[in-house]
Amino acid sequence: MNLNLQGKNALVTGAGQGVGRRIAMELAGEGCNVIVNDLFQDRANNVAQEILESGYVALALQTDICDPIQVASMFAKSRDAFGPIDILINNAGVPPQIRDGTAGRPMFISSTVLEQQEMVNLNVHGTMHCCREALPDMVARRNGRIVNIISEAGRAGEPRLAIYSGAKAAILGFSMALARELGPEAITVNCIALGATEHEGIKSGPLNPSAGPEFDEQRAKIFKSYPAAQGLGRLCSPEDVSAAVAFLVSSRAAFITGQSLGVSGGFHMQ
Ligand SMILES: NC(=O)c1ccc[n+]([C@@H]2O[C@H](COP(=O)([O-])OP(=O)(O)OC[C@H]3O[C@@H](n4cnc5c(N)ncnc54)[C@H](O)[C@@H]3O)[C@@H](O)[C@H]2O)c1
Repeated sequence: MNLNLQGKNALVTGAGQGVGRRIAMELAGEGCNVIVNDLFQDRANNVAQEILESGYVALALQTDICDPIQVASMFAKSRDAFGPIDILINNAGVPPQIRDGTAGRPMFISSTVLEQQEMVNLNVHGTMHCCREALPDMVARRNGRIVNIISEAGRAGEPRLAIYSGAKAAILGFSMALARELGPEAITVNCIALGATEHEGIKSGPLNPSAGPEFDEQRAKIFKSYPAAQGLGRLCSPEDVSAAVAFLVSSRAAFITGQSLGVSGGFHMQ
């Protein structure tokens, strides 16, 4: 299937590892010029380098997407390098202290206002800041694809992830409203809802693909809460997500907007 993505300009937030890294590589492989954004310069550099070494086009841009001034500057730099953004993937959604294991997963009643602000700021405001910067060019050119990476936690709710669930649900509502506003401009906005996804960037814990037997018990618990994924025999991989993203941003998905697609082995069915 020809996705007609050759020469499109794509920006992927939080692309320095995990799901975002794989999305950036998939879009580059389809012929997009990819802006690899991350909070950490070295992560963004490494992924951009990987893409360049594979013979495709990428530019690393370190930016904290929670800061609207930095986001405006990132879009200005991307425009200078490649031209207007055609495809925006809002992927960053996990504060680094959760991913590196230095923060826990408290019940809401034990969580702090700071944790709440950080999670909402990254997911909700970060996504909105990037859309705000991407949209004027998309509207002017009547051309644009936005995919927001959410979680099944935002569609079904997950204990110990109440703030995260709420923030992801907010992105879903925002995306549906944007899809309605932008339909007349031929711009599509969709969400992809993930279940537990294993990848190399999860330093410690059961979702690191090479996690040792000390995590067997936790993996078994995760599997138990994903009966459908258990039926498919595994958890989600970044490749499962990037394939769905590539389709949704392609010309083949021109009539799909305002949807949330579960890439979660059937964790949540509608
Ligand atoms: N991994 C899972 O199990 C899972 C499950 C459901 C949903 N998701 C969603 O998928 C998306 C990607 O998840 P992941 O597991 O690959 O995440 P990750 O944390 O492993 O990697 C994402 C990258 O985002 C970057 N980042 C964090 N804050 C940033 C900021 N302020 N500005 C720019 N970059 C920033 C990090 O540095 C990191 O390199 C997230 O939206 C997450 O909520 C993941």
